[in-house]
Amino acid sequence: MKIDILTLFPEMFSPLNSSILKRATDSGILEFNIVNIRDFSLDKHKKCDDYPFGGGAGMLMSVQPLYDAIKSVKTENSKIIFPSPRGKVFNQKIAKGLSQFDHLIFVCGHYEGVDERIFELFDIEEISIGDYVLTGGELPSMVIIDTLSRFINGVISSESLENESFSNGLLEYPQYTRPAEFMGLKVPEVLLSGNHQEVDKWRKEESLKVTRKNRQDLL
Ligand SMILES: C[S@@+](CC[C@H](N)C(=O)[O-])C[C@H]1O[C@@H](n2cnc3c(N)ncnc32)[C@H](O)[C@@H]1O
Repeated sequence: MKIDILTLFPEMFSPLNSSILKRATDSGILEFNIVNIRDFSLDKHKKCDDYPFGGGAGMLMSVQPLYDAIKSVKTENSKIIFPSPRGKVFNQKIAKGLSQFDHLIFVCGHYEGVDERIFELFDIEEISIGDYVLTGGELPSMVIIDTLSRFINGVISSESLENESFSNGLLEYPQYTRPAEFMGLKVPEVLLSGNHQEVDKWRKEESLKVTRKNRQDLL
């Protein structure tokens, strides 16, 4: 999958170059291209923002540099995403849907947002990462990219996707690793028993318990 990221702050995307996403790019499963929107400004000072018509706080990203930046990467099959508090709220299902595309374009807003006309010029989906307001779309883009990447074949093992939080509508059960005892705290006996049926049963019960405690709304 190719992912173009359009931003005024390319330096914010260094986390894409580590851990699992780095492995996925090294092996050719993912390809990231960070585009600096400022490079497309026709203003002699490369200005990309201006005051909102009608007054109000802050600055808005101007439509021209955004338009030309999108045009420079868009193809017939591109899906364009604008992270925004106005969008539908992101979840695993949306992430899985996005993982099916061959080409995604993330447009990162900043300041007070963007000139609304960009949404008339292109088919853009707005996605929110939650009911709060961040300073820009860079972190939300990374959250969305990180999450959808896990659904792409070869990025992580398919087994990892099977028994994790939200996969079956519940939160994940508690997990333990060696040592079997630490500071007097013992790993639940059933996990050391080797009895897979009993382990599965215990995990289902624990999943229900933690979901009931933290996320009644999922039940
Ligand atoms: C300070 S915010 C602008 C908020 C905007 N004035 C509003 O009230 O909806 C700047 C940019 O951060 C991004 N952003 C902020 N909160 C977000 C969220 N919860 N989900 C996704 N993107 C967000 C968007 O790209 C937004 O254009």
